Amino acid sequence: MKRSRREFIRSVSGGAAAAAFVGLGPGFTARGRAQVAGANDRIHVAVMGLNGRGHSLAGTFGKQPDCRVAWVCDVDRRAIEKTAAAVAGIQGNAPKTTNDFRRCLEDPEVQALVVAAPDHWHAPATLLACKAGKDVYLEKPCSHSPAEGEMLVAAASKYGRKVQLGTQRRSWPNVVEAVKELRGGIIGRPYFAKGWYTNNRKSIGFGKEAPVPDWLDYELWQGPAPRRPFRDNLVHYNWHWFWHWGTGEALNNGTHMLDLMRWGLGVEYPVRVGSSGGRFHFVDDWEPPDTQVITLDYAEKVSIAWEGRSCSGRTIDGSGAGAIFHGENGSLLVDGNGYLVQDLDEKVVREVKSATDIDPRNPTNPADSLDVVHVRNFLDSIRGTASLNADIHGGHVSTLLCQLGNIAFRTGRSINIDRATGHVVGDPEAAKYWEREYEKGWEMVL
Ligand SMILES: NC(=O)c1ccc[n+]([C@@H]2O[C@H](COP(=O)([O-])OP(=O)(O)OC[C@H]3O[C@@H](n4cnc5c(N)ncnc54)[C@H](O)[C@@H]3O)[C@@H](O)[C@H]2O)c1
Repeated sequence: MKRSRREFIRSVSGGAAAAAFVGLGPGFTARGRAQVAGANDRIHVAVMGLNGRGHSLAGTFGKQPDCRVAWVCDVDRRAIEKTAAAVAGIQGNAPKTTNDFRRCLEDPEVQALVVAAPDHWHAPATLLACKAGKDVYLEKPCSHSPAEGEMLVAAASKYGRKVQLGTQRRSWPNVVEAVKELRGGIIGRPYFAKGWYTNNRKSIGFGKEAPVPDWLDYELWQGPAPRRPFRDNLVHYNWHWFWHWGTGEALNNGTHMLDLMRWGLGVEYPVRVGSSGGRFHFVDDWEPPDTQVITLDYAEKVSIAWEGRSCSGRTIDGSGAGAIFHGENGSLLVDGNGYLVQDLDEKVVREVKSATDIDPRNPTNPADSLDVVHVRNFLDSIRGTASLNADIHGGHVSTLLCQLGNIAFRTGRSINIDRATGHVVGDPEAAKYWEREYEKGWEMVL
């Protein structure tokens, strides 16, 4: 019986071959790539959203010898041209292009969708992909609202799909080792973690309604979000700072550190969440806080705090983004792909330096050569030789922590949480933020 290409991929042992691919980074050439894998056993992926992060991910996927970027998709014509040319250079053959990712989902050869479109698209696109039988590499945050995250957990299970969140630190070797050390008791019982993100972002000014540029399909850019007129300070990237499409710095960068902190402490849902801050640095259209502290208290007698400063770039412990754990016997600082353990008198117990330069302020590509490890984990998991390092269940819990922080901020008070479900308790005003409204016809249906 003739086997389909997808069946073939599942049945070949990824073992030795896949292991050999690990670490093949940005410098890998099209010629080298062609020598390693046959056309028939490559995993075909489609990449959605190419202006920033998606362009970088298309390159990373394209460089994997056992993968082919079959489609690149964007609603910005210029972004398609740029990424299609780059991918063709890497792979030695051009990907198909479209402005509508649903065309990629119709292609039976496509095995996985990579979602790097704006946040309001993350869950709706992932749900459609799961329904179409595709696995998904989904950029963080997993969802725009908590209800969407819950639906993705249900969808991955219902349709039997692998959904990996782009919280790449879950695959960074020295961070994995640091968490292992924590769990092994290197600082005794850890009971407090503090994470941070700092940057010197500029003002987005006051935008005005404007004609939609001819290179943009604004209808499909909006997709599931209720319609609003186009404005001239929204596309690209600045949507992050409007609640209608974006989720603020808490989910943009807080997701990475809150995920790391709850992973290190081994906890899921808290019992109380508070947040303070505001749009302090500039007066403009930017809606979420540019200065924010989120605090989470757990029944397990541990606490987490996250500090976000979007417009005040002073680093903490020399790092623009990091996390430190405090325990009975000392502290453990995670800085990039390295860590430092000190006793209570600050004497160094263990230090592992990051061999890779990481720029947490690079908006698209903080660490190319480390991204590849996370992407490999996703591909190896499709091949059946690994399990996902950042599956959607944990990805939803970590995203939810940031969302609860934003809900507390927007409600203006601390909120109590059901530690079994993560839901807001006894606060109908806060609970209103649990789900979003959709443009008619774009509602998420499991
Ligand atoms: N894991 C990381 O380290 C990391 C780094 C950067 C960004 N990200 C995430 O990646 C996502 C994208 O961020 P960005 O900075 O690249 O944003 P961006 O605004 O620069 O790019 C988004 C792209 O998506 C396109 N797009 C919008 N709707 C689309 C649709 N329906 N179909 C196809 N394309 C569509 C836009 O035209 C644009 O080209 C964000 O959710 C962000 O949080 C993750």
